[in-house]
Amino acid sequence: MGEVLFEIDPDIRVARTLPARVYSDPEIFRLQRERVFARTWHYAGHADLIKVAGQVYPFTLLPGMLDEPLVLTRDGSDRIHCLSNVCTHRGTLVVEGAGVEQQLRCRYHGRRFALDGRFHSMPEFEQTANFPAKSDDLPAVPLGFWERFLLVALAPRPQMSIAAIFEPLIARLHHLPFSELAFDPSAARDYLVNANWALYIDNYLEGFHIPYVHSSLATTLDYGEYAVELERYAVLQLGIAKEGEPSFALPAGHRDHPRHVAAYYFWLFPTTMFNVYPWGVSVNVVTPLAVDRTRISFLPFVWDATKREVGAGAGLDRVEREDETIVESVQRGVRSRLYDRGRYSPAREGGVHHFHRLLAEFMSAP
Ligand code: FES
Ligand SMILES: [Fe+2]
Repeated sequence: MGEVLFEIDPDIRVARTLPARVYSDPEIFRLQRERVFARTWHYAGHADLIKVAGQVYPFTLLPGMLDEPLVLTRDGSDRIHCLSNVCTHRGTLVVEGAGVEQQLRCRYHGRRFALDGRFHSMPEFEQTANFPAKSDDLPAVPLGFWERFLLVALAPRPQMSIAAIFEPLIARLHHLPFSELAFDPSAARDYLVNANWALYIDNYLEGFHIPYVHSSLATTLDYGEYAVELERYAVLQLGIAKEGEPSFALPAGHRDHPRHVAAYYFWLFPTTMFNVYPWGVSVNVVTPLAVDRTRISFLPFVWDATKREVGAGAGLDRVEREDETIVESVQRGVRSRLYDRGRYSPAREGGVHHFHRLLAEFMSAP
């Protein structure tokens, strides 16, 4: 049993926000590594990274936080795998660069693995007893899909089913042309924010600040109609367009009809954001680097470039810099001796409260 580090009242009307030390204490940040990040799903990439059979793509999961070396592969039967990229002999990284391979071969002593991770062969091991065993295979990492977006989890809670997590998105977005999505590397970029990762998430999970912080966004979104839906491990926010502003053309019978949805903002606890606009999907990946330093990667996937510069999906760089400025201000504030916890607006901060509840739940259950 772990100690309870902090509690968030389930009733938002009486609840207090996270204690300030959660955003500034290096010890809490360190505990989050195993308690939160190792147990949850994270964005790993798009299936186009491994488009053809034999393609392999090594990557590090949450560099600076988990630092887990993994490799995506597509085997000869067109199945995608996510494997540990650490040789089961003495721990060398197996795949050093992306490419096309028949097998994975460790360059240290020549151990070979099939593209699904199964041990294949090893020189000079004839006298080794009980060899090979299951533990000589490269461990497979749980892999989940939403359309062709890939998510991985090192040790997910069994009840945290990735299929169930994506249900609310699948139900309302399946009519969109996901097969046409193309990554736009020219518009992808990383932002470094001098703030704790959870402050960035807090800010993402409320539209409360839009009229104060985002003057451009406030001209296109209807603040009164902004909607928040809470899922077990996720939050979906709907940005509704003002009269005459750009929105999705939703088919008849769609559950959001006749609302003029300008953007679906889907956040999956703790690090993944899918922002779906009429032009495509902006994947935002939050990477905690230190207790007060976070990288945000913006990865745009486009299905209709003609809609890129209008509505809630336009000017994202400006909106991001406005968010960073305010979040960095909060980071300085939470170090104050005179601030500890605040209160929530039940009308506007349901998403933030839900995130804080999830964080408290994961932090107190080792
Ligand atoms: S570490 Fe890979 S073969 Fe020895
Ligand atoms: Fe914002």
